[in-house]
Amino acid sequence: MKSCNLQGDYLLTADGPLRLLQITDTHLMAECGGTLLNVDTDDSLRAVVDTALAGSHDPHALLITGDIAGDGAADAYRRLEHLLTSFGVPSFWLPGNHDGCSNAEVPMTRFSRTVTTPHWHVLMLNSQVDDEVGGHLCDLELAALSAAVDAANVAEKHLLIALHHPLHPLGCAWLDPQRIDNADVFMTEVSRCRQTTVVISGHVHQASDMTVRGVRYLTTPSTCIQFKPEQETFKVHDIAPGYRSLTLHPDGHLETAVVRVEGRVFPVDLNSGGYL
Ligand SMILES: [Fe+2]
Repeated sequence: MKSCNLQGDYLLTADGPLRLLQITDTHLMAECGGTLLNVDTDDSLRAVVDTALAGSHDPHALLITGDIAGDGAADAYRRLEHLLTSFGVPSFWLPGNHDGCSNAEVPMTRFSRTVTTPHWHVLMLNSQVDDEVGGHLCDLELAALSAAVDAANVAEKHLLIALHHPLHPLGCAWLDPQRIDNADVFMTEVSRCRQTTVVISGHVHQASDMTVRGVRYLTTPSTCIQFKPEQETFKVHDIAPGYRSLTLHPDGHLETAVVRVEGRVFPVDLNSGGYL
């Protein structure tokens, strides 16, 4: 059973611009030191965390956008919880296709549905489908989306939406069919938002930045292996892992950057034909 119920609201006080980090697709395996395509995913996550801690972003909170576990094991969530304590700020998690979050022994606030801040409303969505790689927004998630748009409009706040799967194709023929299969419904809902709307996703293990009908859509590198952009078939990239910083200003302006680990080589198997 993979079910993960996102629920509750977390009140986050942040004066001025809201600074967040997106960390995604950690693929932590059942045991510490487990590998994905020859990369030790605990080690690469630690390198990304160390890079972020050494940076100047000083986040108010972290958003973890799925595929936390590589094989759904409970210990992966415990290890992520332990690694993230060094930031000293709250983190909010949502599931990806590889996750089995019902096993996660972490504080319930990790799986908050919304995060309320003075100028931005943050919504976490679950796009996971049992036994499928691709994403879908079920009625429960669409109801949460609709409620979040209403809440943002009433409070005159901007809206940041986080979910695992991307909404739009990136130009990777093998990967694009895994995007949210009812993105049209999502786009109709977000078009009702009268303030700025930004959407962040994981899953694609690569950075992208596009604006569709006035909404900014971002994807972010994995903390372990990277997929090579614009490929017909599965292809791993030798570029370093990383994270995304987000600075969300009270007037709706967004500053964002992808930051990668420097000075390290990760021994990824570049000839791999894929993984499950
Ligand atoms: Fe994924």
